[in-house]
Amino acid sequence: MASNEDIELLKDGERLDGRSFDELRDINIEAGILKRADGSAYIEWGKNKVMAAVYGPREMHPRHAQETTKAVVRARYNMAAFSVPDRKRPGPDRRSIEISKLVSEALEKVVFTEKYPRSVIDVFIEVLQASAGTRCAGLTVASVALADAGIPMSDMVAGCASGKIEDQVVLDLGKNEDNYGQADVPIGYIPRTEELCLLQMDGNLTIEEYEKAMELSIDACEEIYELQRGALKEKYSTDLDEDEIEELKEGVE
Ligand code: CDP
Repeated sequence: MASNEDIELLKDGERLDGRSFDELRDINIEAGILKRADGSAYIEWGKNKVMAAVYGPREMHPRHAQETTKAVVRARYNMAAFSVPDRKRPGPDRRSIEISKLVSEALEKVVFTEKYPRSVIDVFIEVLQASAGTRCAGLTVASVALADAGIPMSDMVAGCASGKIEDQVVLDLGKNEDNYGQADVPIGYIPRTEELCLLQMDGNLTIEEYEKAMELSIDACEEIYELQRGALKEKYSTDLDEDEIEELKEGVE
């Protein structure tokens, strides 16, 4: 967040891309697009393009990294060299290691890891094109890929950020808003339990501004959650009626 007073982010009180303060960029999610992965999904979120692939549960190697009572959810966030205007140096850097860690921790909150001791569930998040908010897009699409892989979960996680530009709290920062705004607060949200499983803050907000940002993001996460479910429904639409589905669910639990 390189705040820069000279960069205009609002014109006549409006955002430059024409969105209202509580409006998301366009989001499209597709489930199950990679044949070789156990589960996969793809998201386009504004100009972001992010792919997620899930492998596992499978035996954890190296063995010393195994957990005897549960599976490890191991997310790896990676930006393609061509995903940003300046070529991104291939390989992990401090930022991608941090994002991988917090996405792993957020997903671990919803996966029933205790069902798979000594295993690993690998979640690869590949950013093909980046334009602000890639950690939220990555977390969102990874949740769909986990569900596509049939991994038992209590819910999916939806991610979204809000922030502050020119003293206004706005939803889902675009590229310049993210780079030159005053604050950015990405969250991961579990709709069923209304819990947060990721919360970061770059920049400063007053308590009132923070509460406004959270309200915007949580409402947006509910919207994103419907898109996640929609992507899965599109792939797994069924002719079963609700009673038959309940019966199947009981069998799994
Ligand atoms: O993507 P996200 O907002 O989660 O993370 P960020 O660290 O706040 O990065 C914001 C944006 O800066 C990214 O989405 C990219 O568009 C851009 N960026 C870049 O151009 N080159 C990098 N090495 C890292 C980020």
